Amino acid sequence: MHGYLGLVIPVRRVEEPCVLKVSWTDEAASSEAMALAAWNGQGAVRLLASQPALWALLLERLDHRRSLNDVEIVEAVEVASRLLRRLSIPVPSDFRSLRLVTQDLCHTLPQRWEQYGRPMPQRWVEQACELAVQLGTSCGNLLVNYDLHYADVLRGKREPWLVVDPKVVIGDPEFGIAQLLWCRLEDIEAKGGLDRHFRMLIEAATLDPVRARSWTLVRCVDYWLWALSVGLTHDPDRCETIVNWLI
Ligand SMILES: Nc1ncnc2c1ncn2[C@@H]1O[C@H](COP(=O)(O)OP(=O)(O)O)[C@@H](O)[C@H]1O
Ligand SMILES: [Mg+2]
Repeated sequence: MHGYLGLVIPVRRVEEPCVLKVSWTDEAASSEAMALAAWNGQGAVRLLASQPALWALLLERLDHRRSLNDVEIVEAVEVASRLLRRLSIPVPSDFRSLRLVTQDLCHTLPQRWEQYGRPMPQRWVEQACELAVQLGTSCGNLLVNYDLHYADVLRGKREPWLVVDPKVVIGDPEFGIAQLLWCRLEDIEAKGGLDRHFRMLIEAATLDPVRARSWTLVRCVDYWLWALSVGLTHDPDRCETIVNWLI
């Protein structure tokens, strides 16, 4: 089994079914083990052992055939939003902070906008940069999984749904919702649209709606440019739909 960055192999530790995950080396992979250890199995897959030098994690085995991708969108949004909130816990400051992330974004967004052929109105990039500065300087200090998407929530036995493959920063949980809107956007539009699902998400995760809208705009502009940089074709259109809805 694999996604973009990890290779996951079913193994056993004595009789216990586990999986071994080996990742492509990057900063996100090194914080994955720390985040899983901090959550200690509460809402997320349990980390059984790790070997940082080999970028290897031994994890409890979940049911890889059943993810929130196959669950009706209204329920999937609700479950994912609750998990997003549960995973937003206070932690020691060994993780990258949203303050630093937003400082980087302010420099790189305009450059990438030029580099990828000015794919959106300039004022959207300017607005994203302004919001990033404001939000970054006033952000909270909770652990946030900003890559919690439906395919990375798997059926478990200890809890019905558990999160795998986190990518984390320290900041606001509102930073972590954008991908719940651009993943399965077609399902969201077919079942009442962004208004309805955004409202559900905010309620289930108990988020500040204004901050959530602002962070989502920043994340959509960032992800749109990243998607172009790696040749994704549908995701830029999805980001455009969400930004048009936000503005
Ligand atoms: N603990 C687990 N138990 C069972 N299957 C898993 C587990 N963790 C990951 N998988 C499967 O492996 C795939 C890739 O793992 P993931 O951690 O999401 O890596 P990537 O970074 O490549 O996306 C997942 O989509 C899922 O199908
Ligand atoms: Mg994954």
